[in-house]
Amino acid sequence: MNARAMVTVFVPGDAGSVSLGADTIATQLAQECRRRELSVRIVRNGSRGLYWLEPLIEVTTPGGRIAYGPVGTKDLPALLDAGLLDGGPHALRLGDIASHEWLRSQQRLTAARVGVVDPADIDDYIAHGGYVGLSTALTMPPHDLVRAITESGLRGRGGAAFPTGIKWQTVHDQRAAQKYIACNADEGDSGTFSDRMIMEGDPFALIEGMTIAGLAVGATQGYIYLRVEYPHAARALAKALHTARERGYLGGDLRDSGRDFDISVRIGGGAYICGEETSMLESLEGRRGEVRVRPPLPAIKGLFGQPTVVNNVITLATVPVILARGARAYRDFGMGKSRGTIPLQLAGNVKRGGLVERAFGLTVNELVYDYGGGSATGRPVRAVQIGGPLGAYLPESQFDTPLDYEALAAKDALLGHGGVVVFDDSTDMARMARYALEFCAIESCGKCTPCRVGSTRGVELIDRMLARSNGGRAGDLALLDELCDTMANGSLCGLGGMTPFPVRSALKHFREDFLG
Ligand SMILES: Cc1cc2nc3c(=O)[nH]c(=O)nc-3n(C[C@H](O)[C@H](O)[C@H](O)COP(=O)(O)O)c2cc1C
Ligand code: SF4
Repeated sequence: MNARAMVTVFVPGDAGSVSLGADTIATQLAQECRRRELSVRIVRNGSRGLYWLEPLIEVTTPGGRIAYGPVGTKDLPALLDAGLLDGGPHALRLGDIASHEWLRSQQRLTAARVGVVDPADIDDYIAHGGYVGLSTALTMPPHDLVRAITESGLRGRGGAAFPTGIKWQTVHDQRAAQKYIACNADEGDSGTFSDRMIMEGDPFALIEGMTIAGLAVGATQGYIYLRVEYPHAARALAKALHTARERGYLGGDLRDSGRDFDISVRIGGGAYICGEETSMLESLEGRRGEVRVRPPLPAIKGLFGQPTVVNNVITLATVPVILARGARAYRDFGMGKSRGTIPLQLAGNVKRGGLVERAFGLTVNELVYDYGGGSATGRPVRAVQIGGPLGAYLPESQFDTPLDYEALAAKDALLGHGGVVVFDDSTDMARMARYALEFCAIESCGKCTPCRVGSTRGVELIDRMLARSNGGRAGDLALLDELCDTMANGSLCGLGGMTPFPVRSALKHFREDFLG
């Protein structure tokens, strides 16, 4: 090896970047440096969320981190010839990525460390502000912790937007020998990946958030119910949990406080319905993921019949930020009843897809055009679907809608987990409505008739409409609308209950597609 100091190169190891070739880049970079006798330390960080630039690698230089991307394997020799390890000039050089407009304009609180830190290194986490929240939490009585979360205005980021403080208060108030924190990491919505990015890029944030939740409500055991399709997240969590335990941030007598909390990971059942909280609890208990009738609420009778906080990954990973910065500081972001920030996930037919964390209130226009750059095909954008497969389609005429819970509800839409999928003008919206019903038919747990049977009848009805020539279609449209009514009002859970959102929005805004 030559005499120069060891250089650190960050090559993302998250599933998104790996799917774009990051593992091969990491292997070839190590080989090429060995061949040239250059000494490098390769850190597998998370993606910063600029997916159109992945694999995006960063080199630590005395002047700061210098990024290059998207890097292909064929680029590596030329990059090294150009002085990659010194941040040398090259066509792929992006400079300091943190000052890139796409990132600079964001308000990253929950995802502040994603892509920045080494997800396997607890000291790096601490050096970047990690465990400040837990240190604060350990000095506070449980009811003050719950009050801080209530005052922050945090609402569940899994989809239902229920106030987190109220949920925690309910569990806090139960008398029980055992309580649980169950983290919903099933992330089943199409076009969503923020949970994955946190777990792969900053797993200690979730661990810290769950630990604070445990202290607040009196739970000593947590479970992460992890989507089966997330093996990279499983590995990152396993490493981080082991380290946290070794360093006294998990387990018995947390940081010599006399308080206990530990976390186990459970791999999900591989069905969309397993993300619904009561199905998730069934699956966690080892049964088929099937919806439980409510009441009782999980907060009163949840996992193994005990009071349980069920929260999404983003909800829990935001808790340390609130404790570290203060409830008021967090509340200062956002608009109306939607307080704080939301990590939006931009996907589908879009030029620049990725993670955009902003205070609630960014408009769809700003997201799709300023961040996304319009469609990837270059054709006009026709619609976006917001909030996963059960979310409404918004036409371009409504792209001035702010992304906040109430503003979207006023447009018969929902924000859900913050996934926004873009479609261009070649999309047949009747087929998208059919797809929503087909998805529901495939994923239905079968417990109630409006969902199990209604979804299949809906698919048949749209097929019939699309196969026919013009005659009799007005009647079919009315029948489809009536079917949506039955599903919305008669289904036991959100899968059957919300499938009408995409169907009705397609009917309302793109009626011509149903009429052939
Ligand atoms: C069909 C269906 C699927 C769901 N999938 C998820 C999921 O994958 N992840 C998630 O966090 N919440 C999901 N939810 C919402 C959960 O039921 C629940 O509201 C959430 O986990 C509570 O956490 P939060 O308050 O932090 O959002 C789903 C709901 C329904 C009806
Ligand atoms: S709406 Fe569908 S998924 Fe939900 S309980 Fe009924 S059958 Fe099961």
